[in-house]
Amino acid sequence: MSIEFTVEPNQNPASDARIEEIFADPGFGNYFTDHMATVDWEGTYHDGGQWKNARITAYGPLSLDPAAAVFHYGQEVFEGIKAYRHSDGSIWAFRPEVNAVRLQNSARRLALPELPEEIFLESVKQLVSIDQKWIPTGEGESLYIRPFMIATEAYLGVRPSHQVKYMVIASPVGNYFGTPKPVDIWLSTNYARAGVGGTGAAKCGGNYAASMIAQLEGEEQGCQQVIFKDPNRDDAIEELGGMNVFYVFGKENKVVTPELTGTILEGVTRKSLLQLAEDRGMTVEERKFTLTEWREGVANGDITEVFACGTAAVVSPVGKLKAADFEIPSATGEEPGEISMALREELVGIQTGKIEDRHGWLTRL
Ligand code: COI
Repeated sequence: MSIEFTVEPNQNPASDARIEEIFADPGFGNYFTDHMATVDWEGTYHDGGQWKNARITAYGPLSLDPAAAVFHYGQEVFEGIKAYRHSDGSIWAFRPEVNAVRLQNSARRLALPELPEEIFLESVKQLVSIDQKWIPTGEGESLYIRPFMIATEAYLGVRPSHQVKYMVIASPVGNYFGTPKPVDIWLSTNYARAGVGGTGAAKCGGNYAASMIAQLEGEEQGCQQVIFKDPNRDDAIEELGGMNVFYVFGKENKVVTPELTGTILEGVTRKSLLQLAEDRGMTVEERKFTLTEWREGVANGDITEVFACGTAAVVSPVGKLKAADFEIPSATGEEPGEISMALREELVGIQTGKIEDRHGWLTRL
């Protein structure tokens, strides 16, 4: 299904000097481009409804009824994609079709309509095209694209909204954690991120909201991130507040990451790194991975590196794991692990056009 986007350009876009100033230190998610994409949907979950009024307009605040369902029942899903400008000036997005399918899966779980892949890809293309001067090209930089969908119907009964807005905004970003160095993480035992049959595999705001109290607990303990266990499977590790986790077994030339159980987000970076590790001749295992194995593996030297990954952070080395009554030391001390960094460099190399895109992961925008 295709749809035409109307374009109403921003009459007061940021000046080149302002963009230059932002590019000097973009950080992550602090600044937004001149435009946004919007598509409205009306209907019922059962009749499929209709997507309409596709438009690119000036970036700006929304006017929503205070009774809009998203404010009360959290009917919302989102995505994260990065776009890169290559040295020849061409612009590419990394695996946006995988994000399109994941948004559909998340939407289904939240009883939101499934946006057709063509509309998703067109919305990203249109927005990036009109705001292309906002793509930074420094080390670790890109244009982070945030598609999302919210329930807008003003109705307080609990049922799927009959009105929905799908939108895309974009933000020039640098490295999520600054220069990659091991981040210490807190093991949450007071809180779970997801449960069996819950929304753990969906990219919905509620999962991130639920992780924040545990994140704060971690910060009080001097940690930058939090990791969750699966409360239903003894000491199985799940994922961080917003990233998947990998364990490198150096001597065995192997990487292990928790299997997708329905409570873990199916990360696009996770999927891509599994492929890159396999390409290097490494054994890759997606399986139950326990806290005991982490503890023993670091102690006996089998686990030589631990890293977290996601679209925003790419690959972020993990340092020590801190829990209420014990600690697992960093497998690599103060330095990032060699394999973690090699995988990161290869992935970023492909994304930025410096390494051949042998798997056809890039889509030209
Ligand atoms: C991403 O990696 O794209 C996310 O959505 C996670 C968030 C921590 C920014």
